Amino acid sequence: MRSDHSDCEPVDALTRRAQEAYTERRLAVYDAVVLGLFCSLVWRCPRREMVRMYRRGTGARHLDIGPGTGYFLDRCRFRVPHPEITLLDLSQECLDASAHRLARYRVSTCRANLLEALPLPSGHFDSVAMNLVLHTVPGGWAAKSGVFGEVARVLRPGGTLFGTTVLAAGVPMNRLTRRLLAEQHRRGNFQNQGDDPDGLARGLRAHFPASRVVVRGNVAMFRATA
Ligand SMILES: C[S@@+](CC[C@H](N)C(=O)[O-])C[C@H]1O[C@@H](n2cnc3c(N)ncnc32)[C@H](O)[C@@H]1O
Repeated sequence: MRSDHSDCEPVDALTRRAQEAYTERRLAVYDAVVLGLFCSLVWRCPRREMVRMYRRGTGARHLDIGPGTGYFLDRCRFRVPHPEITLLDLSQECLDASAHRLARYRVSTCRANLLEALPLPSGHFDSVAMNLVLHTVPGGWAAKSGVFGEVARVLRPGGTLFGTTVLAAGVPMNRLTRRLLAEQHRRGNFQNQGDDPDGLARGLRAHFPASRVVVRGNVAMFRATA
C-alpha cells in the first residue's frame, strides 16, 4: 500500500449521520446483508450485475469513490497485472477495510468528502467507480451532480465513470421496497428522496459527452465517457 492522503473539512450533520452507518461491526456484515440480501431482494439489482459492471469498466489506473468494504474491486478481474488503485472515502473505517482487502495491489487511500473538490490530479485516471454511493449523500441531483464535474476532471480523455445508485422516485416499487426505503430515510442512511433516473441522466449529460443510465429494479446503473 502506498501514500495516505487526508483532506477533510468538517462535514454537515446529514453527511455525518450517513457516515455513522460504517462502523467496524456493520462493515463485518455489509457484504452479506447489504450486497447479498438487500441488493437482490429489496432493490432488485443483484450484486453479480455490479461485479459484471466492474469487470467491464475498470482500467489500469482506477479511482474508487466510496469503496465500502472493497468487495467489488476484490472480485474484479483487471486487464493489467499491476493496476494502480486509489480509494477515496470520508470514512476511515471504509478506507482501512478496503485497503486491507486489496493489499495485493498498489493501493493509495485518500480521505475526502466527495461533495467537495477532489484532492486528486486532473486527467489521471482511466476509470472511476461510484457504486451504491450517491443515494447515501445529501442534496438533490443539482448538488450531487457536482461530483460528476470533478470526476470528469480527474478522468483522462476517453476514460470511464461507472456505478449504481438506489433511486426513490420515477421507478416502480413494491411494498417491501417502499417500506425498507422509508426505514433507510428514517435512519438517515439514505438521502435519496426525489432521486429519479431522469435527474441522474441530466446530471451526467451536463458533464460528459456520452452517458447511459439503465434502470434495474429501483437501482440506476450508469456509465459515462469523458
Ligand atoms: C453504501 S456504501 C457503498 C460501498 C461500495 N461502493 C459498494 O458498492 O459496496 C457507500 C460508501 O460511500 C462512502 N461515502 C458516503 N458519503 C461519502 C462522502 N460524502 N464522501 C466520500 N465518501 C462517502 C461511504 O463511506 C461508503 O464507503
